[in-house]
Amino acid sequence: DNSPKAAAFQARIDRGEKIEPKDWMPEGYRKTLIRQIGQHAHSEIVGQLPEGNWITRAPTLERKAILLAKVQDEAGHGLYLYCAAETLGVSRDELTEMLLDGRMKYSSIFNYPTLTWADMGAVGWLVDGAAIMNQVPLQRTSYGPYARAMVRICKEESFHQRQGFDIMMKMANGTEAQRRMAQDALDRFWYPSLMMFGPSDKDSVHSAQSMAWRIKMNTNDELRQKFVDQTVPQAEYLGLTVPDPDLRWNEEKGGYDFTQPDWSEFFEVIKGNGPCNAERLEARNRAWDEGRWVRDGLMAHAAKKRAAKVA
Ligand code: ACO
Repeated sequence: DNSPKAAAFQARIDRGEKIEPKDWMPEGYRKTLIRQIGQHAHSEIVGQLPEGNWITRAPTLERKAILLAKVQDEAGHGLYLYCAAETLGVSRDELTEMLLDGRMKYSSIFNYPTLTWADMGAVGWLVDGAAIMNQVPLQRTSYGPYARAMVRICKEESFHQRQGFDIMMKMANGTEAQRRMAQDALDRFWYPSLMMFGPSDKDSVHSAQSMAWRIKMNTNDELRQKFVDQTVPQAEYLGLTVPDPDLRWNEEKGGYDFTQPDWSEFFEVIKGNGPCNAERLEARNRAWDEGRWVRDGLMAHAAKKRAAKVA
């Protein structure tokens, strides 16, 4: 788009101005935001499932209360994000329907199962850790409602990450069986966590345009590298081993060299063929169908109120 309008828009972005819902924006900018924010919202909602799975089996009342609060926070994040997406002219129902029939994605990570209590530690530590690494820069993203939603989400995510690390500390310093569970959780969640940042830069179709529009602030590989650099010392502190025999500190680049995840697995998972894709979508579809009477009731009540006001 070489129109003067588009040039003026880009100049606003380049000056670091925030774009607000009623401002003119290129259709591509709107579409990209709906895709990214919608996908992000869906991830928060679907992301409740692997942890919700453990609420009834948390080992103590305190752990149960913490996990319950954390899962509720994720629901809240989904709702802020759907609201941010709605400012772009798409409704929450439309977004939900696109999730339910597979037209929209959610994060690959939530298609992996949570098999033991140590997985609650690994999810909080690694998955929320990766989420924060990606979301802190998004507080400065160019679209105002998205940037503002991120501020609160990031505060809550840091609490989530700490609760995960706290579980890992307990497990890693517990009995031999607990330590083995912690190691096994790290072994299973390491590479899927690295995949959360998206494909390598050479395969990232949207990065260049999204960065020019400041919808994304960093490339996928930049954030993945930062995540590895931050997380490896934490694993060492826990006395656990990152499942990567080629992991090495590289003095020259000031970061770790590490093995890339299996990208063919990643592309299979985002095509719908991961270990839990069918189960996750089935759970969301069931919740949507079983909640229909509530939505219908609310709509009927609103219509009655409206009619009474007119009369
Ligand atoms: N899981 C599922 N799909 C992914 C993932 C992933 N981890 N990474 C990339 N993809 C998809 C992209 O959506 C895109 O597919 P599409 O065109 O059908 O939408 C395709 O793979 C190519 O990737 P990119 O061109 O790199 O896509 P993009 O520029 O959107 O970057 C990223 C992906 C980094 C995830 C970006 O969208 C983003 O920062 N999103 C906001 C954060 C977010 O959604 N977090 C959710 C997980 S964290 C949590 O909720 C707890």
